[in-house]
Amino acid sequence: MNINDSVALVTGANRGLGRAFAQRLLERGARKVYATARRPETVDLPGVEVLPLDIADPASVRAAAEAAQDVSLLVNNAGISTGTDLLTGPLEAVRHELETNMFGHLAMIREFAPALGRNGGGAIVNVLSAMSWFGGKGATAYHLSKAAAWAMTNGVRLELAGQGTLVTAVHLGLADTDMAAGWHVDKITPSDLADAALDGVEAGSAEVLADRWSQDVKSRLPLAPEEFNAAMERAMVELMAT
Ligand SMILES: NC(=O)c1ccc[n+]([C@@H]2O[C@H](COP(=O)([O-])OP(=O)(O)OC[C@H]3O[C@@H](n4cnc5c(N)ncnc54)[C@H](OP(=O)(O)O)[C@@H]3O)[C@@H](O)[C@H]2O)c1
Repeated sequence: MNINDSVALVTGANRGLGRAFAQRLLERGARKVYATARRPETVDLPGVEVLPLDIADPASVRAAAEAAQDVSLLVNNAGISTGTDLLTGPLEAVRHELETNMFGHLAMIREFAPALGRNGGGAIVNVLSAMSWFGGKGATAYHLSKAAAWAMTNGVRLELAGQGTLVTAVHLGLADTDMAAGWHVDKITPSDLADAALDGVEAGSAEVLADRWSQDVKSRLPLAPEEFNAAMERAMVELMAT
């Protein structure tokens, strides 16, 4: 799929990675970019088509899909990280992370899949995380939501293969956005992350490991759980020392 002939829709395009996706899509020649946000007045990019969209609200998702029937590239980016643990945190916050990071993304795919099919198949980018595969204490609910979103991504890839829709999972460690503001370590820039994801789409890749951290975490998956956890602990100590 060529970015320069695409009609793209980005969720959470008012800031962070979503804003960078919308900007790089424009710069890489996308024919049209729908920049969506819960508060559309906060989208500040010239040249985009702004749409209101709350991915956790089914009526809002349906309205966006009706308004953007020409989409050929869906960038499922919007997400939250509430710093909740599964046992000690409020169950409502656990559900909220799942509702946004997994069910919100799934709702978008369910509503947009027919249009993608009609428009030649197209592609879906799901912005996941290295935390699809590990969960540090303090964010185990986020880990659950991203692991669930990863499984969902793998499932819809199978279901959409018949209509020729590429489903690209994008994993990353830390990016320089509000979400990771508390981490004073090396982070990928939003623009580099967007480029890595869009390069993956153009290459037809089902998976993009956008930084060293996500590559390292994935490479440890064959380890036994105790060894995996010990390796992640050592890696976290090293990360904090950089
Ligand atoms: N930054 C990182 O280090 C990092 C690492 C791994 C994965 N990720 C993933 O990357 C994606 C983007 O994160 P980010 O770093 O750009 O985070 P961010 O700076 O906190 O921005 C989050 C974006 O998602 C939007 N959003 C949240 N809930 C929404 C909803 N229900 N409907 C529509 N939009 C909603 C926010 O809109 P408002 O402005 O209205 O709140 C905002 O635009 C997320 O899926 C995140 O999990 C980020």
